[in-house]
Amino acid sequence: MRRRILLIVVATLAIAACGHNRQGLSFNPNNSREAELTMPDGRVVKYTAYEHLVYVRNVEDTAYQYMNVYVPEGAGKDAPILLRTYIGGYMAAKARAPQAGDASGRALLEGYVVAIPGARGRNSVQDNVYNGRAPQGLLDLKAAIRYLRLFDRVMPGNAERIIVDGTSAGGAMSALVGATGNHPAYEEMLQAMGAAKEKDDVFAAVCYCPITDLEHADMAYEWLFNGTSSRQKNATLLPISNQLKEQFPQYINSLNLKDWNGNPVTADNYMDLLRSELIRSAQTAKNAGADISDTLGFSFNEERMGGMPPINGGKKMALPAMRAPQPQRGEYVVGLDMQRYLNYVASTQPLKTAPAFDTKGVLGQLASAENEEFGGKDGSSVNFTVFSAFKNGTDLSKEVIDNVYLMNPMNFIGIDGKENKNSKDKNSHKVAPHWYIRHGARDRDTGFPVPLNLALKLNEAGCDVNFLFAWNRPHSGDYALDELFAWLRGIM
Ligand code: DHB
Repeated sequence: MRRRILLIVVATLAIAACGHNRQGLSFNPNNSREAELTMPDGRVVKYTAYEHLVYVRNVEDTAYQYMNVYVPEGAGKDAPILLRTYIGGYMAAKARAPQAGDASGRALLEGYVVAIPGARGRNSVQDNVYNGRAPQGLLDLKAAIRYLRLFDRVMPGNAERIIVDGTSAGGAMSALVGATGNHPAYEEMLQAMGAAKEKDDVFAAVCYCPITDLEHADMAYEWLFNGTSSRQKNATLLPISNQLKEQFPQYINSLNLKDWNGNPVTADNYMDLLRSELIRSAQTAKNAGADISDTLGFSFNEERMGGMPPINGGKKMALPAMRAPQPQRGEYVVGLDMQRYLNYVASTQPLKTAPAFDTKGVLGQLASAENEEFGGKDGSSVNFTVFSAFKNGTDLSKEVIDNVYLMNPMNFIGIDGKENKNSKDKNSHKVAPHWYIRHGARDRDTGFPVPLNLALKLNEAGCDVNFLFAWNRPHSGDYALDELFAWLRGIM
């Protein structure tokens, strides 16, 4: 009896010394190091680093499947957690330390806990097995979130206030994490990996230039850019561009989107909607002091679009001569020649070929990043759209169709994603309530409709969405951090 008690005491002490073990995963609060980060303005943030936190029981790739967590001085249990993924190009990303120049460093400065999980990608390979093809990178991020929840009580930071942030393919991952919280479609795979049996929904998703909705991105791209001189002068690409462009209207109409005012969005008014979003982008920049070149296709006026409201209910008063409308000089951006603007976008960086994403085999082209992302464990690459598969005389396998479905956040946003307040089922699907989506106004890595459709669909589903084409930005992320963190303060 005495020996048994002694054993229990020793075991308890051992667990206390080594940390916490739950569900076969562990967190040791004593295993940390102190460090500091110097911000671009010279300010220094002191932090405690908890590194190499393995977030699944059945590790397939030791190089990537762990997470680092950084806790700034003074951060307690209530601190929000910024989960930054460095996935880019659908490639594997290592867990790393916070960077002074991006949202991770800024988050530390703002008192947030920063979590940087590694995640597998299309290029991760161990023992000749490509272990990170779709949807593994997403599953790794979900497993990392589950780990944060599993140890929420013993780790600084509040796992109910996770903000996921990523750029490009990482922006797509951020959108997926935001849209697929707790969704049963991923459950079996997560269990097989040995992820914690916890929820994986998040509080907010920050998506910079998300390269997403991949099976519709080719048609969106050609619908947008078909009229540019770059496409029109390319006799080889133009027939493919024409065919893809023709598929877009049916897709847009099938989405049944509404604009910010609740009006139906259709193929017929979609270009007008894009124009108004780009005008909003330019106007926002102009209000902040930007000089917008006359050559891009915008028109300007001293009056707002549609004219000033009538005074005294009567006819519109004539403006004094001095304030007569002065096109291109006025305070308000009132119009945009879309064709001219799209030619400008294509002039800043050559367009992708057609198809822009599912390239493999079409016109003899090589595999794209996305062809590899949907490829097999043997390192193969595959077509993932009906269009390109058909061009190659092949069909999509069930596995590819399933993976394409799991990798598209658009499939998971809708009525069933709204939180069911009465539901006792802790595993019920939950879409993040808050979204910050940015896409550069001259980003040509995917067509403008891709991020806009994501934003409109979320808005329609009742989410809080802050969307903008960021003026004059190319394909990039984690910019305008003052604005991002002001928004974050607002939603906390
Ligand atoms: C990224 C960029 C692309 O153009 C693309 O097709 C996929 C990913 C990226 O920067 O992550």
